[in-house]
Amino acid sequence: NGEIRVLGIETSCDETAASVVAWRERELPRILSNVVLSQLEEHAAFGGVVPEIAARAHVEALDGIIEAALDEAGVRLSDVDAIAATAGPGLIGGLLVGMMTAKAIAAASGKPLIPINHLEGHALSARLLDDVEFPYLMLLVSGGHTQILLVRGPGAYERWASTIDDAIGEAFDKTAKLLGLPYPGGPNVERVARTGDAFRFDFPHPLKGEARPDFSFSGLKTAVRQAATAIAPLRDQDVADIAASFQRAVVETLADRVARSLDRFHGEFPQAKCPTLIVAGGVAANGPIRAALLLLCERSGFAFVAPPPALCTDNAAMIAWAGIERMRAGLGEETDPMTMAPRSR
Ligand code: KG4
Ligand code: ZN
Repeated sequence: NGEIRVLGIETSCDETAASVVAWRERELPRILSNVVLSQLEEHAAFGGVVPEIAARAHVEALDGIIEAALDEAGVRLSDVDAIAATAGPGLIGGLLVGMMTAKAIAAASGKPLIPINHLEGHALSARLLDDVEFPYLMLLVSGGHTQILLVRGPGAYERWASTIDDAIGEAFDKTAKLLGLPYPGGPNVERVARTGDAFRFDFPHPLKGEARPDFSFSGLKTAVRQAATAIAPLRDQDVADIAASFQRAVVETLADRVARSLDRFHGEFPQAKCPTLIVAGGVAANGPIRAALLLLCERSGFAFVAPPPALCTDNAAMIAWAGIERMRAGLGEETDPMTMAPRSR
């Protein structure tokens, strides 16, 4: 019936994930299953992801997660047209587990294997739900990445901006640690910030106002440390005030930085019918950040597309979908997948 079904596998960080996505011409794709096992609890005690623990957890979980994804989708391996797996970037132990498993399944079933760049998965994820047309801008804000990509199509990206030091999620996580809040820091900083005074501290706005479009967050973290040390021991209200002031600085800085790329887009694509910014990555779950980006887009004549958190954070539906997009674009078997080695960078 002309439907393509792809099994996706994602193991690049601390989520073990598998998904089946189906697509046919002139229709939006259907996510038949999207199974994600988070290793949050395994890593929480250490205040961050421990690569060795992550790799072992992927080994233990992956077979069961793939089976669950096929079951939930109501398909057998023989009904699947290809296997797409994240080949990098990420933690090498997890990537090896995912790629070796995908290669074994591909070899045993005779199906093609499509290696996927994790960033391409995020970049195309908005098109799972929405008919977003190329080219568009993607802002990826996660624990490992902070960048803006121009997405021209599958396999065709330009990096317009990126962080020159810490990732934005890293800044949230380090701030949380300094404030004694549990891992992962982002959601906890956002939560305590609600009762804080965002104007008690005037934290720096790195690169704000500069012509270059890049991001920087390490100065912010240093300023937070100095403020926290100066008023230690911290009471609950101090923690809330620092969190709120930190978040305000992040939101204001981010909006200023993203505005550069929106301007550039208007300059390069003056004929674009519907200029669009899509956002992806765990930090995109942050309410004040989403609100600020929406406002910025409205003012700049951009449509703002923020997929729901389940598709914004690491998942395998975006990997399966990137596989389908590559097949559609004739890029499916661009490299010899069986000699394809995972790459951490
Ligand atoms: O995309 P993601 O799940 O994993 C990768 O980093 O690849 O992103 C996780 C990051 C963590 O740094 C976490 O603290 C941050 O996203 N995060 C948030 C929020 N939820 C998750 N940061 C700010 N506010 C949130 N609500
Ligand atoms: Zn990711």
